[in-house]
Amino acid sequence: MKKINYSEVTPEKIYNNRRFFIKSLGLGVSSIAMTALPLINNANSNEDNELTSYKDITTYNNYYEFGTAKGDPYKYAQNFKTNPWNITIDGEVEKPIQISIEEILETFVSEERIQRLRCVEGWSMVIPWMGFSLSQLLSKVTLTSKAKFVEFESVYDPEQMRGQKYPVLQWPYREGLRIDEAMHPLTTVVTGLYGKKLPNQNGAPLRIFIPWKYGFKSAKAIVKIKLVEKMPTSSWMRASPREYGFYSNVNPDVDHPRWSQATERIIGNDIFAPRVKTLMFNGYGDDVASLYTGMDLKKYF
Ligand code: MTE
Repeated sequence: MKKINYSEVTPEKIYNNRRFFIKSLGLGVSSIAMTALPLINNANSNEDNELTSYKDITTYNNYYEFGTAKGDPYKYAQNFKTNPWNITIDGEVEKPIQISIEEILETFVSEERIQRLRCVEGWSMVIPWMGFSLSQLLSKVTLTSKAKFVEFESVYDPEQMRGQKYPVLQWPYREGLRIDEAMHPLTTVVTGLYGKKLPNQNGAPLRIFIPWKYGFKSAKAIVKIKLVEKMPTSSWMRASPREYGFYSNVNPDVDHPRWSQATERIIGNDIFAPRVKTLMFNGYGDDVASLYTGMDLKKYF
């Protein structure tokens, strides 16, 4: 795993990265001074402060449209066409819009956002995305008073996506968030990775990322954002409601029926490295716990 070498990045980037983390930890700016990034998953020392390598982030993927093996997306997504690409925002809005990827990239400034990915299968990565808050994109439309949830829809294109020829999930891939979760500044529209264009296997040209939820909530290659009144049913809830709830907040105290969520394996560590403790809300509790005040998170898993 590559250690972050700060001499390799520009000062603005360091500042932005750190400020981003700091927000996440509720610390003052001065306390960042020159130490390593004050991340997030403490249990096993500062290894958690390291970015996962570009190679691991781009070759160890879940993207069932291209196959269910971890290497399939890298292998089969390379020629996927992401241009032209339009995103529709409709449903409970005053006036639906369609916006092209070019317009999105011109209108919204992508910044580097280092965020942790915790997969429900029990592994994790630390990823330097490029992106901006979903709330900015949603400010392009006026919501009606019935807009209580958002539903994300990924692209359906079985000609190009060999995995969609098999009914492993109901296609297109669908996910959803409550409106306050969608508007939270940490909920990111991802446009790039390691300062470069987003690779196809990571969800090009545009994917969502919600760092305090299990990775499957973060839909790739989205073509539609629909504002809805009722809680949407995601592809995973439809496939196995016992295993996948709507909220899917990272929670070490609520196990998935097949996998303990108490600890995680950091991708890039050697295979003998101990697993580290998983943190509530993936370490973002200071920022997001208040969204769930009073909710029984065992019931609303
Ligand atoms: N989005 C779509 N459209 N299809 C998928 O199969 N897999 C999810 C999520 N988004 C998936 C998806 C899962 S299970 C995870 S862990 C993350 O993407 C993985 O993102 P990454 O490959 O960029 O690490």
